[in-house]
Amino acid sequence: MSAKIKLGIIGGGGDSLIGILHRVASSMFDKYEIVGGVFNPNWEENSRFAKKLGLNENRVYKDFDTFIAEETKLPIEKRVQVVSVLTPNFLHFPMANALLENGFHVICEKPMTTTYEEAKTLYATLQKAKTVFAVTYTYTGYPMVRQMREMILNGEIGTVQKIDAQYYQGWINPILHDKEQRAATWRLNPEKSGISCCIGDIGTHSFNMLEYVSSVKIESILADLNNVYDDNPMDVDGTILLRASNNVKGVICASQIATGEENSFVVKVYGDKAGLKWEQENPNYLYLMEDGKPLQVLKPGHAYNSKLSLDGTKLPPGHPEGIFDSMGNIYKGIAKAINKEPYNAGEFPTIIDGIRGMDFIEKAVASHKNGNVWVAIDEN
Ligand SMILES: NC(=O)c1ccc[n+]([C@@H]2O[C@H](COP(=O)([O-])OP(=O)(O)OC[C@H]3O[C@@H](n4cnc5c(N)ncnc54)[C@H](O)[C@@H]3O)[C@@H](O)[C@H]2O)c1
Repeated sequence: MSAKIKLGIIGGGGDSLIGILHRVASSMFDKYEIVGGVFNPNWEENSRFAKKLGLNENRVYKDFDTFIAEETKLPIEKRVQVVSVLTPNFLHFPMANALLENGFHVICEKPMTTTYEEAKTLYATLQKAKTVFAVTYTYTGYPMVRQMREMILNGEIGTVQKIDAQYYQGWINPILHDKEQRAATWRLNPEKSGISCCIGDIGTHSFNMLEYVSSVKIESILADLNNVYDDNPMDVDGTILLRASNNVKGVICASQIATGEENSFVVKVYGDKAGLKWEQENPNYLYLMEDGKPLQVLKPGHAYNSKLSLDGTKLPPGHPEGIFDSMGNIYKGIAKAINKEPYNAGEFPTIIDGIRGMDFIEKAVASHKNGNVWVAIDEN
């Protein structure tokens, strides 16, 4: 019997954006073996892609229901153990819930569900299933993001007093202004995407990242969103004021119409002794800013980094760590949990991160619709 964890994948086919990231990440530390799945609802495309991956055709199923029915008939030592759900958002909840009910571990893309209610139901199912559940907030796996978290936890910037995340993309700009393209994009279709486009897609990364690196809990928000056109049901831009524990305040600025921007995600946390800044498009640099001192730039792989950061660095200093490595580190942490090995709580985002993310999305939309009012985030 293979010592590797048997991984199934739903979605993430050859036509997808995120599939390759999960496939490469799962292979990175020799912990997983992809054994089957459903990569595409179209059978020809599904089977063509599975052949390309070299999978046993008996383990590639025509749809999700058949996947569950056939996999659960297999003896436990052959069966898929963990399933990555990489479909458009509206399928995350029904699929993840059924997988948990049938005893699988689950790795779910964000946003975890399309509603806060579904997220709470999933939590209840997980309590019964007692399996491992992770949500892939990808950026939490970068070595210098983990370093930022550990430095703040160790008090190296003093008491946190301001948090700030700016996530700017421009990809939806040309699509938004062309009605045909707009109609063909699932991210702008509430039935497939949920109630929010920009905040659901990248605002939620910002919310999770600020809580991950700063360890403060965001307690209430005030949102001003922009759909640009009256006949566009989904936000494509938003500015959200934050109030957090210990009188910390901050802001999330998220946009998919920041023309010309690619994936400019910048996260800043300021304490009373120092500030830390990290930029996704230059992820190997963590900037440490202190009054009256020259700027310091911390990099991966050095002895001055924390154990959590070093655990996520595979090569000596000077060999850049990128987004594949970041997701690889998350898969590595999930493998430890599945194998019942000890792990650091910062190694992968959990269902609580997913629930808080869904609460944030719903409250941001509610705040905006009710006239830009403050709305409380639940404790979860
Ligand atoms: N963590 C991140 O940073 C990140 C980045 C991008 C996307 N995502 C998330 O990943 C998910 C997928 O996004 P994407 O950009 O890859 O979407 P996509 O539209 O590019 O790909 C979706 C894939 O799902 C497949 N699919 C659709 N319906 C299916 C079904 N019923 N059964 C099996 N497969 C099915 C499609 O064939 C396709 O391969 C979304 O929830 C998105 O929010 C996360």
